[in-house]
Amino acid sequence: MSEQQRIHLPIGFMDSGLGGLSVLREAMKIMPAEDFIYFGDSANAPYGTKTKEEIRKLTFAVVEYLLSRGIKGLAVACNTATGAAVRDLRIMYPKLPIVGIEPAVKPAVLGANGGRILVLATPMTIELQKFKTLLEKYKDQAEIVSVPCKGLMEFVENGDLEGEDLSEYFEQNITPFLTDNTEGIVLGCTHYPFLKKHLEFFLKDRKIPLYDGSYGTAAELKRRIEAAGLLRTQERCGTVEILNSLQDESKIELSHKLLSLPF
Ligand code: DGL
Repeated sequence: MSEQQRIHLPIGFMDSGLGGLSVLREAMKIMPAEDFIYFGDSANAPYGTKTKEEIRKLTFAVVEYLLSRGIKGLAVACNTATGAAVRDLRIMYPKLPIVGIEPAVKPAVLGANGGRILVLATPMTIELQKFKTLLEKYKDQAEIVSVPCKGLMEFVENGDLEGEDLSEYFEQNITPFLTDNTEGIVLGCTHYPFLKKHLEFFLKDRKIPLYDGSYGTAAELKRRIEAAGLLRTQERCGTVEILNSLQDESKIELSHKLLSLPF
C-alpha cells in the first residue's frame, strides 16, 4: 500500500479495557482530522494482575486484530501492556509508528522539590524492569514511592467514578503513603485519570498535584505519525470506532460516556 493510501487508514488504540480512552480523548483533540479505532480488552481485564507472559500474549492478539482491520499507527494506551510488550511490538512491526505510555514520573519529579512522589500503578507495571529502570533514573531527585493499586481499575470498568466505596479504597490504599512532604501523585495507569476528580475531592485541602502521561503520549503519537508522512492535514471531522472484547453493549456506551466527559 502506498503512503498516499495509508494516510486514509485509522490510528489504532489498545488497552486492557476502558482506560486507554483517557489517552484517546487527548489524541482526538490534537488530531481532529484523524479516524481512530479503539480496542478495549475488558473480557481479559485486568492485565495488571496477570503474568508478563499472559499480558504479552493478550497484547499481541489485540494488535494483530487491529492490524488485520488496517491501521497506520498504534498507541499502546496501557502502562502495563507497554511495560510488558512494546519493545517486542517495535521489533515485530518495524514500519508501524508505535507509541507506548509510561507513568509520568519525569514531570512529577521536575514539578517537585525533592520531596515524596507517589506512583499509583498496577502491581505488574511496578514489577516490570521498564518501570524499575525509570525509577532508577530519578531516584536521586525525589523520594519515589510505588503504590500497587490492585482493584482500582475495576471502578472505571464499572463506571463508578465517585462515591463512598472509592473513597474507602483511597483511604485504605493511598492514605498510608501520604506524608507532609508528598509533592506529587502520578496516575500510572490509564484508567486512573477518570478517577482524578474524586481523588482531588478525597485529598481535600492537601493540594497535591496529580500527573498522568495521556497528553504526552498523544503528542508523541502525533509526532510519529507526522514524521512518517501519515498525518491528515485536510479539514475534516475524524471518526471513532470503539470495540470491546466483552460482547456487552453497555461497555461501548460507557466508553462513549467516558470519552465525552469534560477534563
Ligand atoms: N490501563 C492499564 C494500565 O495503564 C491497566 C489496567 C489493568 O490492570 O488491566 O496499566
